[in-house]
Amino acid sequence: MQHGLQCEMIHSTAGGNSALAQTHDSDETSTRSGGPEEDLRFGRGFATDVWHALALSAAIGRSAIMRVATAWGPIALARGADGKIFALSDICPHRGAQFSKGRVRVESDGAASVECPYHGWRFDVHGRCRDVPAANPAEISPGSGPAAGISVRRFAAIERHGLVFVWFPQSMPRPGAPASPAPPELAADLLPALCAGPPKLAFDLTFPGHFDHVCAGLLDPAHTPFVHQQWFWRRPGDRRLKTKAYQPSPFGFTMKAHAASANSAIYRIVGKPETEIAFRFPGLRYEHVKAKSVEFVTASFLLPVGPNATRFLQLLWWKGLLPDLLTPFFRYAGARFLAQDRAIIAQQAANFVHETPFLSVGDADAPVRWYAALKKEWGQAQAGQREFVNPVTEQTLSWTT
Ligand code: FES
Ligand SMILES: [Fe+2]
Repeated sequence: MQHGLQCEMIHSTAGGNSALAQTHDSDETSTRSGGPEEDLRFGRGFATDVWHALALSAAIGRSAIMRVATAWGPIALARGADGKIFALSDICPHRGAQFSKGRVRVESDGAASVECPYHGWRFDVHGRCRDVPAANPAEISPGSGPAAGISVRRFAAIERHGLVFVWFPQSMPRPGAPASPAPPELAADLLPALCAGPPKLAFDLTFPGHFDHVCAGLLDPAHTPFVHQQWFWRRPGDRRLKTKAYQPSPFGFTMKAHAASANSAIYRIVGKPETEIAFRFPGLRYEHVKAKSVEFVTASFLLPVGPNATRFLQLLWWKGLLPDLLTPFFRYAGARFLAQDRAIIAQQAANFVHETPFLSVGDADAPVRWYAALKKEWGQAQAGQREFVNPVTEQTLSWTT
């Protein structure tokens, strides 16, 4: 079918069927600052007021402090005396050493704290300083120790699906202030019920590109036959016209459950599975595959780390004997897939030093246009202090892969 040709800024349309949409963002200066709407053009800035998955729960033991790099600064994750996770800035307010290189301590009242490795200042789960060990006791007047009033930024954190999620608000909390206003609950329907427990397999990589471009790679079906050519996935040259029905879903869109690609060797082995693919802004995509005796979910969580760095957490949950047996293969195949995606992002990043072209053509690029539209709407809703309205509408898309 021939669509009418149309040329426009990619972030100005949510239409899935514009045949040609083009952005000239790269020609604009990055010095304009007009609030969230301006800061959230495609390829620039990062959405706030969002939960991001930062780590696997199992990686943070009782006495461990994990450092996680994010676009909002390094975060130190540790556990309180009750085992609950807490998140502080990993920048000591004294002279900037890293709590994550220090240790977890227990205060006289039983509360947990993190101890900075440089001068031993300790901060509790609320980010309040509990002690400045080098202070002269004579400086302490009744009711106010040298630690009084000193604090470090604290973030709201929660564990779900075997992962640690941290809330990144639009305005960063003041150091020591409670993580308020209280963030909204992490969505109960974030992942299918199969993902209640920890993932069975996890890949943790950093891609050298902006969050939006990594996300575009996640949503884009057209790269698959070119980037992911391997014997176990599909026969070379086996490309077919596919038609997929999409519907809006909370903060994103879902490719409705359909019979999985017939040209995928893995899917031929497990029988005739049905698959549903969902994307939720800002950076969660999952694929839920159900066959007679097998069910699995593969989910990608993206985390912005910097203008040209994006953390990529790829997680797998499954049920059934066959996937259990195939674990070494999943490990091998997953690493290959991700290395291939990462290599393309590195290619782009090297070119983006010069210019950032972005032509968006036809249905195959529609999911990327939807992502850009979701990001724009997110910024506009924030700027207007109004409810987010999903710009994606129910549509059927066709492409050849
Ligand atoms: S830098 Fe942390 S206590 Fe001095
Ligand atoms: Fe890919």
